Amino acid sequence: MKIISVVGARPNFMKIAPFIKAIAKHNQVSPDKVEHTLVHTGQHYDDRMSRAFFEQLEIPDADINLGIGSGSHAEQVGHTMIEFEKVLKERKPDWVVIVGDVNAILACSVTAKKEHILCCHIEAGLRSGDMSMPEEVNRLVADRISDLLLTPDLLSSENLRKEGVSENKIKFVGNIMIDTLENNRVKAEKLDIGDIIRQNAVNEAASTFQGSKNKEFIVMTLHRPSNVDKKEVLEPIVRFMIDEVCNDTPLIWTIHPRTRKMIQEYGLLDEVMSQKNLFVLEPLGYLEMLKLNMSARVILTDSGGLQEECTVLGTPCLTLRWNTERPITLTEHGGASVLVGNNISRIREEYHSALAKGRKPVSPELWDGHTAERCLKAILDHK
Ligand code: UD1
Repeated sequence: MKIISVVGARPNFMKIAPFIKAIAKHNQVSPDKVEHTLVHTGQHYDDRMSRAFFEQLEIPDADINLGIGSGSHAEQVGHTMIEFEKVLKERKPDWVVIVGDVNAILACSVTAKKEHILCCHIEAGLRSGDMSMPEEVNRLVADRISDLLLTPDLLSSENLRKEGVSENKIKFVGNIMIDTLENNRVKAEKLDIGDIIRQNAVNEAASTFQGSKNKEFIVMTLHRPSNVDKKEVLEPIVRFMIDEVCNDTPLIWTIHPRTRKMIQEYGLLDEVMSQKNLFVLEPLGYLEMLKLNMSARVILTDSGGLQEECTVLGTPCLTLRWNTERPITLTEHGGASVLVGNNISRIREEYHSALAKGRKPVSPELWDGHTAERCLKAILDHK
C-alpha cells in the first residue's frame, strides 16, 4: 500500500511523528509493506518553527517539500493544490493522510479527492462552531470529503454523526499528539529551565537569567489572529501581563513570529523587551515547551495543542479564546482549561483562581500513547 502523509505547519509535526514510527514498526513485522512518502507543504519554514521539530521528534526529512511559504490563505491553499497535484499524479498513492487543521488539510484533501484518491483525516470531528477561524473552515471541508475520519474523543465522533457522516467512516482512535507526549516525557523532564530560558532568550532579562530548576513561573503563548491582529485586543492583554502578572510571578512568553511583528507595529516592543520579570523567548522546540508545561504554575494560551497537553499534565490553563474545538480539555469535562476570551476582568478572575489550583493530570479515554497504531490499523483495515 502507498501512503502519502502531509504536514505544513508546526502543530502537524508532533502529530505525524508517531504515525511514521507506527509505519516503520508495521514494516518490520508484516509482509505487506507500507510505502510511505512524507510531503511538507513548506507553510512553516523558519528553523525554529519546523526543522527543530523534525530533529527532536526524529522525523525523517520530508521526501518532498512544496516550498509554499507565507502568503494569504488563498495563496497558500492555491499554491499547495497546484504543487500537490503534481506529486499525486507522479506517485499515485492509495491514501493521502492529513493531520490537524492547518491550511494543508484543506488544500490536500480537495486535491486528493479530485484525483480519486482515498483521504484519511487524523484528528477529525473537532468543531469550534466559529467560522471566523480559518482552521474551522479547513476542518469542515476536510471532514466532509475524507473517506476515513479518525477522531480523538467521543464528542468529536458525535459531531460527525450530527453532520450526517456515515458510521463506517468514523473511528474513535484517541489523541495522536499524546503519543508524542508520552514518548518524550522522560527526555523533557531532564532539561533545566534556566538553560531553556538563556538558550532561547530574546530580551535581556532572559539572556542574563540566573535562576535554575524549580522557580515558579507563568507561561504565555499567543498567535491567533483574533488575539494579535488588533491593537485594542492585544494591548490590554500585554498590559495585564506587565502590570499584574509580572509584579508577582516571573512570566515566560514564547513569542510567535506573527505576534512579534504585531507588537512591534503597535509600538509595544520596547516596553515588553525591557521588563525585568518577563522572559521573552523565541518559539521553543517540542521538548523545551513540554518541560515548561510540566513546571508552570499556570499557562495562558490560545493554542489548541497546549490545552490538550495541559489536560494530560494537569497544568491549570487559561485559554484566551471565546470558544474551543476541544471541549474535552475544559474543566467541565474534567480537563485543565478554562475559556477566558480576551476580556481582562475575566482573565484576572480566572488567573487568580488558577493560581490557587494544584496540578491535576487527567487522561481522557484512549489518550494512552497508542493512537498512531490504531490510526494505521484503521487505514489498513478500511474496506
Ligand atoms: C498556522 C496555522 C494555525 C496554527 C499555527 C501554529 C493555518 C490556517 N494556521 O498559523 O492553525 O495554530 O500555524 O503556529 O494554517 N512566519 C514566519 N516563519 C515561519 C512561518 C510563518 O515568520 O516559519 C510568519 C509569516 O510570515 C506570517 C506569520 O508568521 O506572517 C503567520 O504564519 P502563517 O503560516 O500564515 O500562519 P500561523 O499564524 O503560523
